[in-house]
Amino acid sequence: MRATAYLKILVSPWRYNDQLPLKQLTQRLNLLYGDDDKRGWYLTANGRTALEVILKAVSSDPEDEIIVQSFTCVAAVNPILWAGLKPVFVDIDQANLSLSLDDLKTRINPRTKAIIVQHSFGIPGPIEAVVKLARKQGILVIEDCAHALGVPVVGPKLGTYGDAAIISFGIEKTMSTKFGGALILNNSKLQSSVDAVYETVPKLSRRESLRWLLYPVIRVGLRKLPKGIGQGCGRFLERVGLLRQAVAPQEYEGGRPPGVPARLPGVHARIILDTMADLDQNLAHRMRIAQAYRESLSDNPIFRIPPSIDAALIKYPVLCATSELRDHIYSILSRHGIPISNWYDPAIYPQGVNLDKFGYRKKNYPDAEVAASRVICLPTGSNISPDYATVIANDLSTAAADFQGRTKRVSRSS
Ligand SMILES: Cc1ncc(COP(=O)(O)O)c(C=O)c1O
Repeated sequence: MRATAYLKILVSPWRYNDQLPLKQLTQRLNLLYGDDDKRGWYLTANGRTALEVILKAVSSDPEDEIIVQSFTCVAAVNPILWAGLKPVFVDIDQANLSLSLDDLKTRINPRTKAIIVQHSFGIPGPIEAVVKLARKQGILVIEDCAHALGVPVVGPKLGTYGDAAIISFGIEKTMSTKFGGALILNNSKLQSSVDAVYETVPKLSRRESLRWLLYPVIRVGLRKLPKGIGQGCGRFLERVGLLRQAVAPQEYEGGRPPGVPARLPGVHARIILDTMADLDQNLAHRMRIAQAYRESLSDNPIFRIPPSIDAALIKYPVLCATSELRDHIYSILSRHGIPISNWYDPAIYPQGVNLDKFGYRKKNYPDAEVAASRVICLPTGSNISPDYATVIANDLSTAAADFQGRTKRVSRSS
C-alpha cells in the first residue's frame, strides 16, 4: 500500500468505523477462498480473537479439552484458556512441523472437543487425515492458517477443510498490514453459537485503533535511526504503550494483550483490502524464494528442509543436524545481518512463557523440543530477491562446513 494512501486514512478518524470496507473485505476474502455463500466470515482484530470466538462456540465446559500442537506461539494457545477450556498438547511431525498423527491418536479422549491443525509457516499440515479421524469421533477441526493466508496459490485453500479456520493479518504474517484477523466458518451447524459469541465481542476502541495505525509509521521512523538509538527508543515506546509488541507481557502468563478480544474496525479493513491487491504477487514471490532455498539446500544431508510443495511460506524453516550446528550458523548469519528468526525456539514461543500455566511438560514432546533446538527460519519477504536467497543459502552451507571442519579438528586433536 502506498504511504500517501496510508497517511490519508490515518488522518481521517471520522472514517475509522466505516461499514463499507468490512463488507468489501468479507466479499474479497470469500472470493479468495472459493466464493461459497454458505461460508461464514467474522472479521476480528487478530487471529487470537478469531480463535477465542470459535472455541467459545465449541464448548463452555472447563473440563473439555482442545488439542493443539507443540512448536507454536503462545498466541495460538492462550485463546483456549480465555475460552475457559483445557489445552492438550500433541507432539509434531518434523517433516511438516504440524501435529503428529500417531501422537494425536494417543491424546484423543471423550473430553476432546476440537483439534487445532496448524499449517506451520504455510506448510500444509495433515488436514485431510485429521478431518477423517475427527469426523468418526464427533470432534471438530479448526485450521490455524495464521501463516497460510491464501495458500496454496491454486486449488482449494487451507482453511476450507476443517469446520472452521482462522487467518491473521498481524505482525510478521503474510501481508504487511500488522493488524487484523478473521474466522472462517465452514460448518453451518455452528453458525448460531458463533453468532451469539461474536455479538459479545466489543468494538476496538479508537485509541487502540490509532495505536495500531501508528505502528508501521513508528517502526519506519525507528529504522531510520542508528541501531542502538532505534532499539532504545523502541523499548521506551513499548513501555509507554505507544508501540505494541507481537506478544504482550500479559500473554506470557496466559493473560490477554490490551484490546483483545475485539472486532475489526472499518479503517483496518480498508488497509487490509488495499494491501490484498498485491496478495497474488506476494504469494508468488514467497514461493519463488522457497524454491531458491530448496535448490541450494536440498542436496545437503545436514539440513532438513520443508517438503517440495507449491505453497508460499511466510518463513523457510531449516532444521540443522544438531543444536550446536544451529547455534553456530545462527550466530554467523546474524553477524552477516541476514534477517533470520528463531520461530519456534522454545517450542512454546517466545522465551519466558510460563509453561506451568498451560500444563506443558517438555519431556512429553520430544520431536517438538528437538525441532525447536535445531530450527533456523530464513526470510521469504519482498526484501529478499531470489539471488539474495541463494546467497543466504550458500552462507548457511559455508557456516555448516566451517563448523563441521572445526569439530573434526577438535576431535582429532583430543
Ligand atoms: C501459529 C499462530 N496461530 C495464531 C496466531 C495468532 O495470530 P494473531 O497474531 O493475529 O493474533 C499466531 C501469531 O503469532 C501464530 O503464530
